[in-house]
Amino acid sequence: MAEEMTYVNSDGLRLDGRKVDELREIKITPSVLSRAEGSCYMEWGQNKVLVGVYGPREALPQHIQDPTKALVSFIYRMATFSVSERKNPRPGRREIEISKVCGEALEAAIFLERFPNTTIDIYTHIFDSNAGTRVTALAAAAVALADAGIPMKDMVSSCAVGRAGGNIVLDLNKYEEDAPDAVDMPMAIMPRKKEVVLLQMDGLMEKKQWFEAFNLGVQGCMSVYEMQKDALKKRYLEIEKDAMQEIEKAGAKMDKAAKEGEPQ
Ligand code: CDP
Repeated sequence: MAEEMTYVNSDGLRLDGRKVDELREIKITPSVLSRAEGSCYMEWGQNKVLVGVYGPREALPQHIQDPTKALVSFIYRMATFSVSERKNPRPGRREIEISKVCGEALEAAIFLERFPNTTIDIYTHIFDSNAGTRVTALAAAAVALADAGIPMKDMVSSCAVGRAGGNIVLDLNKYEEDAPDAVDMPMAIMPRKKEVVLLQMDGLMEKKQWFEAFNLGVQGCMSVYEMQKDALKKRYLEIEKDAMQEIEKAGAKMDKAAKEGEPQ
């Protein structure tokens, strides 16, 4: 019989050194694309994602327009080099499904009715991966939407939770996702409204374990929410600083011009 793998050691640490309720390191950088209305580059452990938001802009062809609200188009794509075996560049069933569920999660948060006949296009591209790419793409997309100034009822914050080797663990890596008894549960919430906007589950769990996992997942999403807010606040402070510098420069120029125009 195959030897049973240990996913959490006697000190309560996982194979990558994390505690069971610990997220991988997350770095969020908004406003990285000049052509996009809003954008975000995010690293979540080994996962690397770039998101560009375009719109709201006229939905074309016209027959797809909805006079009552904006349409949301969410595109999730993995680069051919983002996985261990070259990925076919053609979007597969998995990418189409992820695009659909992530788009619907964000639709719940956007004030769509304010932008009739338009489309909001969200492009998310994965450049490196190690499990949890859909929740990385979704969290980054929510930051990019805020960066684009698109009015939202709430942020969308995401993370995955599940089981590996009998342990309920937050933010599974690929090794844990491949455990024989693995359960992977990607989820996303609107943190202030306390609404679940994405909940998927790969594998089976008993009800008690499911609640334990769900509560841990909510806790993970709340930590991601804090990081999303911090990244956006930092960005707005930079914008404010740049604007103040521009105002000071313009003021100095006007003072100089006024002095030069004064009679001697
Ligand atoms: O990435 P996420 O956990 O949201 O989705 P998944 O379908 O559970 O995929 C888990 C991981 O499998 C991905 O993050 C990739 O690292 C890997 N994968 C792969 O190696 N080849 C693919 N065609 C798709 C995913």
